[in-house]
Amino acid sequence: MKDEFLIQGLAGKRLLKGEIPIRGSKNAVLPAMASSFLFSGPILLHNVPHIEDVLRMSELMSSLGAKVSAKNDRTLLISPESAHAHILDTAIAKRFRASILLSGPLLSRFGKVVFPYPGGCVIGKRPIDLFLQGFKKMGARVLERDEHFTLFAPKGKLSGADIFFKIQSVTVSETFIMAAVLARGVTVLRNVALEPEVTALAQFLLSNGARIEGIGTTTLKITGGAPLSPKHSYDTIPDRIETGSFLLLGALSSDNLLISDCKPDHVRALIDVLRESGVIIKEGKDTLHVRGWKKANTPLSLQIKTHEYPGFPTDLQAPLVVFFTQCKGENLVFETIFEGRLSYIEDLKRMGADIVMWDTQRALIKGVTPLKGRELDGPDIRAGLAFLIAAIVARGSSIINNVYYIDRGYERIEERLSAVGVSIERRKKAGSA
Ligand code: EPU
Repeated sequence: MKDEFLIQGLAGKRLLKGEIPIRGSKNAVLPAMASSFLFSGPILLHNVPHIEDVLRMSELMSSLGAKVSAKNDRTLLISPESAHAHILDTAIAKRFRASILLSGPLLSRFGKVVFPYPGGCVIGKRPIDLFLQGFKKMGARVLERDEHFTLFAPKGKLSGADIFFKIQSVTVSETFIMAAVLARGVTVLRNVALEPEVTALAQFLLSNGARIEGIGTTTLKITGGAPLSPKHSYDTIPDRIETGSFLLLGALSSDNLLISDCKPDHVRALIDVLRESGVIIKEGKDTLHVRGWKKANTPLSLQIKTHEYPGFPTDLQAPLVVFFTQCKGENLVFETIFEGRLSYIEDLKRMGADIVMWDTQRALIKGVTPLKGRELDGPDIRAGLAFLIAAIVARGSSIINNVYYIDRGYERIEERLSAVGVSIERRKKAGSA
């Protein structure tokens, strides 16, 4: 049976209060899990969030023969030694795009990998050309048949190469960092993404003996070698998208919301936009405290472009649009990373938002518009959460379908939101199988 959320909106009142601790980052823990194939023994991962994508990655890795077990509530032990297969299970891999992260470690460890065209959120074309080009540069042969890719490394080993990525991509950067760690010789990766999740992966591998120079810059030099012997465990960094989403929720619905266990520096671009909009945020070492919103008399007129880190994250674009519906003025949001990531706006308009689409990637949001509750189908993880925020701000009740998308990225969201005063209930959807 499918789940749905029933939410009673606050009709714009600022009633939420309390503390929301941030969980470990989905997009950091998934590559760290995949990296276990680079090790000669078991690795420990801490602060692992309880989310569907971690379960899917665990299932996929188990189907390859790795042992994935929970040591305690948020610690996973992954033993790669028993891995024997190199073919990704199509049904599981097609459920989340991050499954492609396994291609790098499997190909460099076993000399072969078979994977389907990866699935995941429908937010644009999401090609995989950079993966295929990069692997070819490292000497792999690539065969494509029936939407499946079979890659072989000659004599079972990838070779170091000089690879320039024409686009800065998070999972491409992570995949090739992992591939290079076991390749023969030196790999130079250029135009590497700077997202904190990429840096966290590189630092984890470095702390376990990988030879990586240039971490934190866009050029990495990696000298390949034998499988790594585990020395240090992985501490998953706080989820910056969760942090940013709760900041936006706090800005809209609270004068006293403490977001704890977070890294303020990772959401600097959002903090700046919110402060410019009059939101009062007190910043601690690992906390962000929303203390109210001093709305200016003059209307806002901001232009926000999504951008690779440290620019404004595409994953916070949808909740930012919800925020702008409640700001006086006309604010422009330009989605530059994915070409299909504004489709949810039609639903916001049906809730009462006044948004003009300049084209498929630019939206002008006119505020203030009260929102009305309604039934919504979340189209992807991040838009799903944006709908939740919109439903909390709205007058009346809303139903959010496709809760699976929200569960993919956010741990037990209804419990955590209830704890700060949101009226939200998870129910089985009537008539669903
Ligand atoms: N791209 C190509 N060719 C490729 C790969 C990517 O053209 O072979 C393009 C993409 O189409 C996009 C651009 O490169 O236009 C940048 O996308 P990127 O590859 O960085 O995205 P990703 O690695 O697939 C990760 C996150 C996404 C997040 C983006 C951007 C993970 C598992 N996913 O995706 O997170 O939106 O970076 O920051 O790390 C989410 O968590 O909901 C999510 C979608």
